[in-house]
Amino acid sequence: MDICLPLVYILAVVGAACARCPALEPPVNGVLKCQQFDAEEFDAGLRCTATCYPDHRFVSGERVVERTCLASSDQWLEGPDPIPDCVGRCRQGLIDGQGKVVTVSSSLTPTELHGPQAALLSSPGAWVPARDDILQYIQVDLGSPHTVRGWRVRGDGGGSYVKLFRLLFSQDGVTWTSYSDGRVEDKFFTGNFDSKTEVTDWLPKPQTARYVRVNPLSWNRTIAFSWDLLGCSYNSENETTGREQGRDGPGCKAPLPPPSGAVNCERNGTHVVCTAYCLENLVFSKLPGPAIDLTCDPKIGLFSHTPLPPCVERNTSVPFVNISGPCVQEEGDCFYVQNGDYQYCGDCHYFSTCSEGYFFVRPCPEHLQYDSRLALCDYHSSTCNSKQRAVHKVARAQHGGRVLTGRVAG
Ligand SMILES: *[C@@H]1O[C@H](CO)[C@@H](O)[C@H](O)[C@H]1NC(C)=O
Ligand SMILES: *[C@@H]1O[C@H](CO)[C@@H](O)[C@H](O)[C@H]1NC(C)=O
Ligand SMILES: *[C@@H]1O[C@H](CO)[C@@H](O)[C@H](O)[C@H]1NC(C)=O
Ligand SMILES: *[C@@H]1O[C@H](CO)[C@@H](O)[C@H](O)[C@H]1NC(C)=O
Ligand SMILES: *[C@@H]1O[C@H](CO)[C@@H](O)[C@H](O)[C@H]1NC(C)=O
Repeated sequence: MDICLPLVYILAVVGAACARCPALEPPVNGVLKCQQFDAEEFDAGLRCTATCYPDHRFVSGERVVERTCLASSDQWLEGPDPIPDCVGRCRQGLIDGQGKVVTVSSSLTPTELHGPQAALLSSPGAWVPARDDILQYIQVDLGSPHTVRGWRVRGDGGGSYVKLFRLLFSQDGVTWTSYSDGRVEDKFFTGNFDSKTEVTDWLPKPQTARYVRVNPLSWNRTIAFSWDLLGCSYNSENETTGREQGRDGPGCKAPLPPPSGAVNCERNGTHVVCTAYCLENLVFSKLPGPAIDLTCDPKIGLFSHTPLPPCVERNTSVPFVNISGPCVQEEGDCFYVQNGDYQYCGDCHYFSTCSEGYFFVRPCPEHLQYDSRLALCDYHSSTCNSKQRAVHKVARAQHGGRVLTGRVAG
């Protein structure tokens, strides 16, 4: 991603003043927002935050991750890794303490020490089969279809552990299918690297199954395996991750926001949809307002309207937008309100989202306008009117018991 010094306003000549940071893709189930920061004291750069949707988290447990890139360097201070995906709540343990029926191909005697009960992570031992060969398996009947997203696995604590395994899924306990990620049929998974450390890992694509079987393929010393699966009952959450999109194309990295502007991007199922907007009551030069939609097909990887024009002072003699009620226009406004959607002050086609103190601007579907009274996008908005281009200034309004400072251009 090109980082440009804020002084350089003319996009045609930014080349020399820009460092290059690897551009970021928005996470699945979350929003990525990038904004340049000023060079007044220290160094110019770009700051990006990725925020998971409500009820989603990064696997680390956090809801927000931040990345910073200084124009003088060419890398993200936090490291080169892509933004991880946000996952839903659907990642609870499915076996431990759930009274599920676990069966095994064989177990070493005494079975109290080596049988399926010993394979619970909450018990100290591990399942140890009677023989060490690649035909051994442990399987669980979850009782009903479940979304399986990942697992926790551990060895026996005494030098034996499973290094590599296959996963098999079944709806009826008779016909089994191996895991395929769309590219590799019968994908193998890495298990443990020592016998004591518990390892948690996630499937690239969740699977739905009633029966799940683990088939060890490689081990240290002998097969010894303790496990739990992570996911949820199929009925309680049937979300998809959407990660597959763009796998066979270049993908869509967030475009560079101009100085005093911001860009936030998310996935809508097929495309990456971004909104670029000017901050501090500025507007895009040569465009009618302060915000613009950018879309990108991950198979093609190009955004419309890039590079973005600079943000400039608005011609105050041109009336703008008439909003009745409060509106939210920048990060600071989110400080006073609860998580949720609000009228965007700059343009009726957009709405503002406050999430954990972070601010995003999102577009309504084409030709629609946001109605904050109904909290939805519609053909006509009862709370915002930009056709008349009239001006209606809202200084302060009550919203949900909190004072909301809305700023309407004008
Ligand atoms: C693997 O097994 C060998 C004995 O076969 C043992 O000496 C070694 O410590 C084990 N490795 C680990 C990492 O536990
Ligand atoms: C989830 O399940 C509900 C009811 O079974 C259904 O209406 C909804 O469309 C499903 N959502 C997805 C993303 O499949
Ligand atoms: C996603 O955005 C693209 C581009 O705006 C649009 O054509 C498509 O219909 C959208 N898909 C969904 C599911 O909203
Ligand atoms: C502002 O807009 C008015 C009306 O369109 C126009 O007459 C005027 O020249 C504009 N001023 C600037 C500085 O662009
Ligand atoms: C602004 O819109 C409201 C209704 O949405 C309307 O009552 C009011 O007259 C409008 N103000 C101007 C200056 O057009």
